[in-house]
Amino acid sequence: MVKKKEVIKPKPSTSEKPSSSSSGKSSKGYDIIKRNGAYYINGILVANKTYALSSTYAPGGLTKETNEAFLKMQKDAAKEGIQLTIISGYRSYTKQQSIYNRYVKRDGKKEADRYSARPGHSEHQTGLAFDVNSLDQTFGNTKAGIWLSKNCYKYGFILRYPKGKESLTGYMYEPWHFRYIGSDAKNLYNNGNWITLEEYLGVDSFYAS
Ligand code: DAL
Ligand code: ZN
Repeated sequence: MVKKKEVIKPKPSTSEKPSSSSSGKSSKGYDIIKRNGAYYINGILVANKTYALSSTYAPGGLTKETNEAFLKMQKDAAKEGIQLTIISGYRSYTKQQSIYNRYVKRDGKKEADRYSARPGHSEHQTGLAFDVNSLDQTFGNTKAGIWLSKNCYKYGFILRYPKGKESLTGYMYEPWHFRYIGSDAKNLYNNGNWITLEEYLGVDSFYAS
């Protein structure tokens, strides 16, 4: 007689159930999980207007992967006569707070929210993002800006705030801001027609108030 195989049904897991109400599934069906003070969607860390980092999330600098990928990109760009310099890398929660407050004083909250993240909402706090060379939108038309937009994905970076996508990312065009994401970068590059991380993962970016 053939012995019947015992089928063990897995118990539904409760241990990984996120406590925050922002956790669950993205509109593309990806898992949204909060872990150690940051949200991960399909395994990708997301910090935007909707998904905040804890104030204690503090890698203290650019992550090793981000730094190494940048150095590689910088070296290759230099071979083509392009100098890349990080002008703002890791920023702590409190550093972002003072930057944001300064902009609010200067331009008012509504305007500042279009280009500066509130504390806890900046990718700079993740240690995965940095600004290069110039905080001027015309940078996108320079040799360095064009090169970055065309090549950064090869090093795992994305042009995080593409032109004309403010309604999706929550921020104006920033040709200087790059975010390390790894091999997914190629998909966002989309043969030169950059898609946003929000579109890619199926998530929003807006402040509730
Ligand atoms: N300028 C970007 C959105 C930041 O403040 O993180
Ligand atoms: Zn930036």
